[in-house]
Amino acid sequence: MAKHIGILTAGGDSPGLNAAIRGVGKAAQNHYGMQMIGFLDGFRGLVDNRSRMEGDMLSDILTRGGTILGTSRDKPHRMMFGGKKQDMTNVIVENYNSHHLDALVCIGGGGTQKNALQLMEKGLNIITLPKTIDNDVGMTDTTFGFDTALGIATDAIDRLHSTAHSHHRIIVVEIMGHRAGWLALGSGIAGGADVILLPEIPYDLDTVATAIRSRVRGGKKFSIVAVSEGALPKDQAALVKAAEEAMANATDKNARKMAKKEIARLEKENANHTSTLSRQLEELTGLESRVTILGHLQRGGTPSAADRLLATRLGTACADLIEQEQYGVMVAARGENAVPVPLIEVAGNKKLVPPDHSWVVSARNVGTSFGD
Ligand code: F6P
Repeated sequence: MAKHIGILTAGGDSPGLNAAIRGVGKAAQNHYGMQMIGFLDGFRGLVDNRSRMEGDMLSDILTRGGTILGTSRDKPHRMMFGGKKQDMTNVIVENYNSHHLDALVCIGGGGTQKNALQLMEKGLNIITLPKTIDNDVGMTDTTFGFDTALGIATDAIDRLHSTAHSHHRIIVVEIMGHRAGWLALGSGIAGGADVILLPEIPYDLDTVATAIRSRVRGGKKFSIVAVSEGALPKDQAALVKAAEEAMANATDKNARKMAKKEIARLEKENANHTSTLSRQLEELTGLESRVTILGHLQRGGTPSAADRLLATRLGTACADLIEQEQYGVMVAARGENAVPVPLIEVAGNKKLVPPDHSWVVSARNVGTSFGD
């Protein structure tokens, strides 16, 4: 009997999602004769039982940004419902069964992998694909969305160079990535940023200022500072680490509450760290400084050729795995191959930049400062 599969996209959108939906869907329907239904707005649509399944749903979407299914950051086990946060996993199981699904494909980043694992533990046949511009999902070489965002951020740094040069200014450009520095590191190297600041390598403000002043002495009166949104100076990074450790080691409700409060306080304190950094660099170097926050521009628009290719490869491999009834896995990119890796090993496995990563070494060797 033909298999019935459901598909959803969850978490922040990213270029390549539609290519992945198309890759899964065309291979599943046309190659294997399966039937596919798309749930809307991530796990929320599975709870509300909102879906679409028109025959031409997969046409003309390969090159489109965003996701035709919509997305949300809703978590199955803590979803706002009837005015309060509730565990909706049982409703998801009911809806999965009422659609007679043989498998559910969840496309998303780190959070989605964790949520998908919980559904797997409820007995559903789950298979996931790794997407995020942050490139921070473990067990896969890369995620779709990253290459497009890398191109956008690099183009932005290229453009900022000429205006920084004309005005003899510092330009501090904030790049997304959540708590991982891949996007700032990659675009910083490709765009030739003079300073790259990453969450994984806490910085010292004076060291950053010294690097900029030494450029001025060498005749370069402008500097580009590529700062990852999660980057922090050493003192703040140490406080965040201590608060997170306190949270992880909390043995009672009160200790957990205190640690949570401290984490929230630090998040608030560091919310405008890019502007603070820019102001501090002006004071320390005597140069004018401007801030550019790239924000959601990095997630929008047409996916790059590399992302379309990756999403299609992983999507079609996903249909192969469903045909073989290999569930409870994420389809990972490993070199030229798409390989299934157990979800249990992926969930909660965040891929951060190792401080001695070859990209960091290369950047240092061309004279880039990490402010450490
Ligand atoms: O995970 C992708 C990402 O763009 C991160 O880089 C960023 O921190 C976050 O999502 C922003 O989320 P939102 O779109 O919900 O503001």
